[in-house]
Amino acid sequence: MTAERTPTPAERIFVALDLTDLERARALARELNGTVGGIKVGLELFSARGVEAVRELGAEGLPLFLDLKLHDIPNTVASAVRGLLPLEPALLTLHAAGGPAMLRAAAEAAQMAGQHRPRLLAVTVLTSLDERDLRRVGQEGPVAAQVLRLADLAQGAGIDGVVCSPQEVADLRAKCGPGFILAVPGIRPAWAQADDQKRVTTPKEALAAGADYLVIGRPITQAPSPRAAAARIAAELAGP
Ligand code: C5P
Repeated sequence: MTAERTPTPAERIFVALDLTDLERARALARELNGTVGGIKVGLELFSARGVEAVRELGAEGLPLFLDLKLHDIPNTVASAVRGLLPLEPALLTLHAAGGPAMLRAAAEAAQMAGQHRPRLLAVTVLTSLDERDLRRVGQEGPVAAQVLRLADLAQGAGIDGVVCSPQEVADLRAKCGPGFILAVPGIRPAWAQADDQKRVTTPKEALAAGADYLVIGRPITQAPSPRAAAARIAAELAGP
C-alpha cells in the first residue's frame, strides 16, 4: 500500500465486512470497488471460511485489511506473518502486548514482501476492556496511559501504526508523529445510527483529529445502497 502519497478521501475508508457469508462479502466488495480504499476482514471470516475465502475476497481487487490480531511467541508470529504474505494484505494487525521481540520479529517477516509489504498495525488496549479489567490482568494505570505506552513500544519495534478509538487519535498523533498510521473504528456519519458503538465520532472529525484510515462497517454495509453510502461519506470527507 502507498504510504508515500496522500490518500484520496475514498481511499481512507476501509469497510468492515463482518460477515461469514462469503458470497455476500464478495458482492459487497464488488459493489464498493472504486468508492472505498479497501475492505477489512477479521477472525470471523477467517475462522468460518478459511484462508481460501480471504484469497477469493482479495481477488475482487480492493486492498485488504486483515484484522487477525496476532499474539504469540516471536517465532510463531513471524511464521504466521510469512504465511499470510501470499494474501498480499495491505494492513495486518497484531497485539502490541506481545512485546518488543514479537513486534520486531513480525516487522522483519513483513519486510520479506519487499515493496508490497503489509503495513503492520498494533492493537493496544481492546476497547472492550476498562480499567478494572486491566487491573485484573495485572496492568495498572489509566487506559489512556497504557494505550500510549503500547503505541510507543510498537513504534520503537518497527510497527507502522495502531488501531485506535476516536478518543485516542489526537494524543497518539501528537505522541507518535505524522508518519505513524492511525486506523480508527467507531465512526458514524451524522445520518447513521450508532448501533452498539458507545463513543462514536463522525468521519470528518476523526480525520481532523489525525486519523489516516477510517474503519466503517454497518453505516455502509447495512445501508439500502452501500455504494451510495460510501460515496456520501467520501464526499463529506472531501467537503469543507
Ligand atoms: O459496523 P461498525 O462500523 O461498528 O464496525 C466497526 C469495525 O471495527 C468492526 O469490525 C469492529 O470489530 C472493529 N473495531 C471496533 N472497535 C475497536 C476495534 C475494532 O469497532 N476498538
